[in-house]
Amino acid sequence: MKQPLLDMRDIVKSFSGVRALNGVSITLGEGEVLSVCGENGSGKSTLMKVLSGVWPYGSYEGEIYFQGELIQASGIRDTEALGIVIIHQELALVQELSVMDNIFLGNEIGSFARLNDEAMHHRASELLGRVKLNIQPDMLVRELGVGQQQLVEIAKALNKNVKLLILDEPTSSLTSADIRILLDIVSELRDQGIACIYISHKLDEVLALSDWVAVIRDGDHIATKVAAELTQHDIIAMMVGRQLEELFPREDHEIGEVVLRVNNATAIQAGASRPQVDNVSFDLHRGEILGIAGLIGSGRTELMQCLYGCYDGQYQATVELDGQSKQIRTQRSALAAGIAMVPEDRKRHGIVPIMSVGRNITLSVLDNYKTNHFSSVFGGVDEDKEYQDIEEYIARLKVKTASPELAIKHLSGGNQQKAIIAKCLLTHPKILILDEPTRGIDVGAKYEIYKLMYSLVKEGMSIIMVSSELPEVIGISDRVLVMHEGKLKGEFDHQGLTQEIIMNCAIKEGA
Ligand SMILES: Nc1ncnc2c1ncn2[C@@H]1O[C@H](COP(=O)(O)OP(=O)(O)OP(=O)(O)O)[C@@H](O)[C@H]1O
Ligand SMILES: [Mg+2]
Repeated sequence: MKQPLLDMRDIVKSFSGVRALNGVSITLGEGEVLSVCGENGSGKSTLMKVLSGVWPYGSYEGEIYFQGELIQASGIRDTEALGIVIIHQELALVQELSVMDNIFLGNEIGSFARLNDEAMHHRASELLGRVKLNIQPDMLVRELGVGQQQLVEIAKALNKNVKLLILDEPTSSLTSADIRILLDIVSELRDQGIACIYISHKLDEVLALSDWVAVIRDGDHIATKVAAELTQHDIIAMMVGRQLEELFPREDHEIGEVVLRVNNATAIQAGASRPQVDNVSFDLHRGEILGIAGLIGSGRTELMQCLYGCYDGQYQATVELDGQSKQIRTQRSALAAGIAMVPEDRKRHGIVPIMSVGRNITLSVLDNYKTNHFSSVFGGVDEDKEYQDIEEYIARLKVKTASPELAIKHLSGGNQQKAIIAKCLLTHPKILILDEPTRGIDVGAKYEIYKLMYSLVKEGMSIIMVSSELPEVIGISDRVLVMHEGKLKGEFDHQGLTQEIIMNCAIKEGA
């Protein structure tokens, strides 16, 4: 190892008496890349929050040395001043501000109240160039997709004098092209002597990028090994404590009649030059898993939002459910029609962060628990019944939480995702839309979600799955639709389907 830049010794961190980290030690040299791997809830993000001062000195046990000095940070400002910059798992940009304002937030160029706009604009363009993001600095962040927002976060980090960059699942929302860009950026930074701690459930990336791989399981440090000497299977075995035979547990199931027929779906934002969804028609069968592939910006998510009544622009589509024409204009009417959706961006659309895990799960079906003793205004809730459902679904989806009463924002990313799936299943939908369902989910939990999907289609549910992970699309779907620039470009049976076929279709121009 080169000269140690970072030395974390015996870190212990507890939350209300429950240990999330149980004496974890890691070290890292200048310009080295360390990946931290582990299942959902194993403690990866907590370790990074300790390192970056989110959890201040004194709130954990153990010591952290950076460039030989003991860190006693009282917040992230202190660690940023040292050159430690963290990009969190959940995006943290201010949606209503411009890209430029976000990049300089708390770090503005210029003196006192008057900021030098021109200099900021220039610097922002330069930083966006470094992350190969071809957008205007004055665009509002909310106009960007999650993938682009992630790159803005990295541009923001580059603006600070970074010596150690921490990326907590940076690529879980990116497509392969964007991932390449990001991995290239990290490699470039490494060549400039900037160290990086990388957290990802994508083990191919981990191996391609890292010098070292540390594995954490249930808050315990299992091992740190030289990446070049590991295979993906080695890492998985250390993560889950057992060998996992197959990644995609395909199960036979019966596919029935058409349950959903969508004709001529079109969606456009006010003032946009081309529609986000452009005259798309397709069928979905009972008991079918329909995969939807395409690059970010191809209109996959927007198409799903139209079906679920939550697209925020102009849209129209002829929708038939079980042969009956249906107008779906709101989420409420979608749920009433038997359509539920697990959204792509769980922070923005999926959860109420400060509400308990349990209430987040029952939120869509609270009416079911209303008691008759009170008027609807002062509606009482049958808490026993609600609690029963919560317990059942927490168990069914193996949501790892200290208690159902815990605010959901405290759950690890993957476990929040499982809670959102639980919430959707409680509405007993006929059609379940999953937009990037395994984003940020570990290999073991992915396997459980695939198993769950098969058990649902066996019960007669139909599933539409949007996914950027091609192995998953191919490994799990019965049939795959490919979108490009709002249009449907291809339809394939999963038999004989390859990543290459999908990619060729996803980038093809013309009709
Ligand atoms: N603020 C908090 N309050 C209570 N418990 C917490 C808090 N933050 C984390 N935890 C718990 O600590 C454990 C580790 O969570 P952490 O977020 O570090 O997991 P992770 O390895 O990053 O998982 P993922 O891969 O899902 O992101 C989990 O059981 C989580 O519920
Ligand atoms: Mg995490």
